[in-house]
Amino acid sequence: MKTQVLASIGLFAASAFSQAVLDSGTGFGTYYYDVEQVEACGTSFANQNLGFVECNFFTGLSLDQINSNNLVAMNHTQIAGNLADYCGKRVIVTVNGVQSDLPLFIGDGCQRCGTGSKTNTVWNPNGAPGLDFSYSVLSELNSNACFAGHIDIAWEIVDETLYDFDTNAPGQPTGPVNQRRSVDKKSERATRRRR
Ligand SMILES: *[C@@H]1O[C@H](CO)[C@@H](O)[C@H](O)[C@H]1NC(C)=O
Repeated sequence: MKTQVLASIGLFAASAFSQAVLDSGTGFGTYYYDVEQVEACGTSFANQNLGFVECNFFTGLSLDQINSNNLVAMNHTQIAGNLADYCGKRVIVTVNGVQSDLPLFIGDGCQRCGTGSKTNTVWNPNGAPGLDFSYSVLSELNSNACFAGHIDIAWEIVDETLYDFDTNAPGQPTGPVNQRRSVDKKSERATRRRR
């Protein structure tokens, strides 16, 4: 019996990451907000946490209101015209050959991540491929995150929705899939913060 249960868990785990890959790349991971550790690594994230995310296009929710450090920002140019394709999708990040199983999802645009060449391997704060994370998540991916400021990553965005944004259905409740909670709605279109 126990063997059977373990075997089925194994099967599920094997299929969990077998979704179609929507995007993949290599580049740099950085941090820009943190809704739990508001002061960390000599920085205050208080202002950043008030920024509105690109994926709540109609409702205009801030990082604080979404209240998850698992939200990740990607190439702003790529996501801007294709919100419904990427928003809420799972991102699998690999650091030093280790694939993270954190439930990370796309939720925002990152200006730096869309500037310069997609194949650039040299760090440039004004333009280099990659993703932008919460400080907590980047530190979990690599304990050197605070000291280095940016880490080497590889990623895959896969076709599994972890968070419902309003991108497909304006006015619909948004929140984590399987764990919905009510959110404050703002009627005005937000001024979105982009990095
Ligand atoms: C960002 O996305 C655009 C549109 O898909 C692409 O042309 C560009 O090469 C990407 N830039 C980086 C740095 O990945």
